[in-house]
Amino acid sequence: MRTIAPPYWPRDAGAPRRTSAARRAVDPWRLYLDAVRSGARLPNACRPLDAVYGPLARADTSRPFVVAQLGQSLDGRIATVTGSSHYISGPAALTHLHRLRALVDAVLVGIGTAVADDPQLTVRHCAGDSPVRVVLDPNGRLPPTLRCLSDDGPPVLVIRRAGPGVTAGDRIVAVAADTDGRLDPHAVVAALAARGLRRILVEGGAQTVSGFVAAGAVDRLYVTVAPLIIGSGTEGLRLPEIAALTEALRPPTRVHVLADGDVLFDCDLAAARPAAPGGDDDDSRRLLAHRAPAALADGDRGARRDPALHRDEQRAERAGPEHAV
Ligand SMILES: NC(=O)c1ccc[n+]([C@@H]2O[C@H](COP(=O)([O-])OP(=O)(O)OC[C@H]3O[C@@H](n4cnc5c(N)ncnc54)[C@H](OP(=O)(O)O)[C@@H]3O)[C@@H](O)[C@H]2O)c1
Repeated sequence: MRTIAPPYWPRDAGAPRRTSAARRAVDPWRLYLDAVRSGARLPNACRPLDAVYGPLARADTSRPFVVAQLGQSLDGRIATVTGSSHYISGPAALTHLHRLRALVDAVLVGIGTAVADDPQLTVRHCAGDSPVRVVLDPNGRLPPTLRCLSDDGPPVLVIRRAGPGVTAGDRIVAVAADTDGRLDPHAVVAALAARGLRRILVEGGAQTVSGFVAAGAVDRLYVTVAPLIIGSGTEGLRLPEIAALTEALRPPTRVHVLADGDVLFDCDLAAARPAAPGGDDDDSRRLLAHRAPAALADGDRGARRDPALHRDEQRAERAGPEHAV
């Protein structure tokens, strides 16, 4: 007697055929996208993914939700002195970046990155739709040959400094500058939100991400750290100087070890923002909790591991690598 195990049921035996849903089940990320889009209950295989992507995937889109990312070396560099950043991070971090793209309405880079990397800004390393591509180019120096401007890809927006010679249109978004000629990141976010783009990924580079973080315009910061030391080159985050460590940002942070050994820090910057005057008590408590080093539960002055997440990771390890974040 011959035994045929699923999924190789003989079609004429009246056994269930593999549906496209069953085929999709082999990819937890696709399963996850389907579940968050439909609001269906999350399958267990998706829980480790939800620990990382849940805050973005289920963000309240009645207001903008901004995430930023950097892939850096152990010594905090995101590129060499020549501007080369391919690839500081390993393949798992690249997949992570594409998952972020798949979850947002718009992916934004500064003109420095557009020129240095010529990124396509599309989703290619995971399932999902590509977001609108946005280049922050206040002075209009974007070369027309860049790949992110291709007409056969997702729509492109170019953010320019409002002024003479800049005509807003389908592709051009004009944003007023401050007296230094800088564009207020909040104004950039508002201009994108006005076009229905509320989940926004600020993908780089250093100046752009730093400007958004310094302005308090980032809700979630994802930093992947790869085990290499460059020793020179572009630093990732550069913020206004502080004198005392009590002034440092200490966002509640979750730590994930990616499949190939890079480490992902998921920093909840929204929780680290000063509460608005008259804001609710929860916001004030969260702020105090992360501001005071003594309040850290286990004496670890850096990122804390979330026990629930740790359990999820253990479950994922037991379930095999395809379930790993
Ligand atoms: N490892 C990673 O995760 C990663 C990610 C992305 C990029 N990178 C690397 O980062 C490097 C590029 O970084 P970068 O810091 O030089 O350039 P960038 O942040 O991509 O672009 C900086 C430029 O964007 C404009 N800009 C940004 N914010 C602005 C604001 N608030 N107001 C007005 N203008 C603003 C300015 O243009 P103007 O100069 O015209 O005023 C500024 O010079 C490249 O080497 C790239 O490979 C690494």
